[in-house]
Amino acid sequence: MDNTILVTGGAGFIGSNFVLDWLALDQGSDSIINLDKLTYAGNLQNLASLEGNPRHIFVRGDIGDAALVAKLLTEHQPRAIVNFAAESHVDRSIHGPAEFIETNIVGTFQLLEATRSYWNGLNEESKGAFRFLHVSTDEVYGSLSPTDPAFTETKQYEPNSPYSASKAASDHLVRAYHHTYGLPVLTTNCSNNYGPYHFPEKLIPLVIHNALAGKPLPIYGDGQQVRDWLYVKDHASAIRRVLESGKVGEAYNVGGWNEKPNLDVVHTLCAILDELSPRSDGKSYAEQITYVTDRPGHDRRYAIDATKINRDLGWKPAETFETGIRKTVQWYLDNQEWVQNIASGAYKDWVDKHYEKVG
Ligand code: NAD
Ligand code: DAU
Repeated sequence: MDNTILVTGGAGFIGSNFVLDWLALDQGSDSIINLDKLTYAGNLQNLASLEGNPRHIFVRGDIGDAALVAKLLTEHQPRAIVNFAAESHVDRSIHGPAEFIETNIVGTFQLLEATRSYWNGLNEESKGAFRFLHVSTDEVYGSLSPTDPAFTETKQYEPNSPYSASKAASDHLVRAYHHTYGLPVLTTNCSNNYGPYHFPEKLIPLVIHNALAGKPLPIYGDGQQVRDWLYVKDHASAIRRVLESGKVGEAYNVGGWNEKPNLDVVHTLCAILDELSPRSDGKSYAEQITYVTDRPGHDRRYAIDATKINRDLGWKPAETFETGIRKTVQWYLDNQEWVQNIASGAYKDWVDKHYEKVG
C-alpha cells in the first residue's frame, strides 16, 4: 500500500479542517486523495491554500459511485479511508430527507462494498494495517433529560431526526462490515463542532453572519436546548489519534466537556462581537435576538462522555470553549470574503425558505 489515505467529504467543514491540518502537520509522508461531490456544503475555497501541493489530490465525485471509488482505490492503494461525506444539517433533513438516505445510508453502503472488495485483494500485512474510519455524531444516541448521564459508547441508539436516523443506519452498516467480513473499521461519535469554514446555516456561523449583517438572530423555541461544543481542530486531532491507535471494531465518543444552552452560546457570541466589532449605534448585538418557532422533534440535550478516548488513547481537547469561540469569531471577522461568497444564490434561497416558515 502507498502512503496515501482517502478522505471523503474533505471539502466540507470538518473534512477540510482535517485535510489542512493533516498536510500542515506532515503526518508522515501520507498524501490525501480527497473525494467530494461538492454539494452546496462542499467548498473548494476551503482548500485554496493547497493549490499546487502534490500531496493533495482532489477528485469531484460521489461516495455512492462504486466504480469511481473502486478505481481510486486500485489506483492509489490507500492505507486508510476516513469517511466524512454526508448530508449534515438537521433542518434540511426535516425539509427533505431523501438525500440523507441516499448519501448517508446508500452512499456509505456503496463505499463499504468498494472498500471490502479492495481490502480482500490486499496481502496479509496490508490487510492488517488497513483502517476504515467512519465519522459519526452524538445525535445517534437521542436526547437526554437535564439529569441523565452523558452518552457513553454503550448508550442505546435512539435517533430522532431523519439526519440522525440516517447516520445511525450508516454506523450500523460499518459495525456489521467488521462483525461479518472482518473489515478493520473504527467509528467516532462526536458532539457539535465549531470553528473556521463552518457553513453559515449552522447556529454559530449563522449567528455571527446575521449579527454583522444586522439581521435577526433566530433562537428556536426557548433556546434552552443543550449541546456539547468542540473546536473543529480538536475533532481533527481526535480522528488522527483514533486512526493511529484505536482498537479495530470499536467506537469512540469525542466531545469537548462544554455543555451549553443555545441561548448562552448566542449571548457569548454577541459579547465577543460587541468587543471586537461593535455596532455603529453602540447597542449590543444581543438586541437582534429573536425567538422563532421550534425545530420539529428538537432534541433537548446532548452530552458526551469522552472518558474512553482519553483513558485508552490519551486524547483530550486543546481548546476550551472560551478560547475556541474567540478564535472562531476572529476567523469570521478576518474572512468576511469567504462568507460573502457563500451568502448568495442557493444559500440565500435556503435561508429565505427555512426562516420564513419557522419565523
Ligand atoms: P458538511 O455538510 O460541512 O460537509 C459534508 C461534505 O460532504 C461536503 O463537502 C459535501 O460536498 C460532501 N458530500 C456530501 N455528499 C457526498 C457524496 N455523496 N459523496 C461525496 N461527498 C459528499 O459536514 P460537516 O459538518 O463537515 O460533517 C462531516 C461529517 O462529520 C458528517 O459525516 C457529519 O455527520 C459528521 N459530524 C458533524 C458534526 C458537526 O458538528 N458538524 C459533529 C459530529 C459529526
Ligand atoms: O451533535 C452533532 C451534530 O451537531 C452534527 O451531527 C450535525 O451535523 C451538526 O449540524 C450539529 O447538529 P445541530 O442540530 O445540533 O446543529 P445546529 O447548528 O443546526 O443547531 C445547534 C442548536 O441551535 C440546535 O439546538 C438548534 C439551534 N438552532 C439552530 C439554528 C440553525 C437555533 O436555535 N437557531 C438556528 O437558526
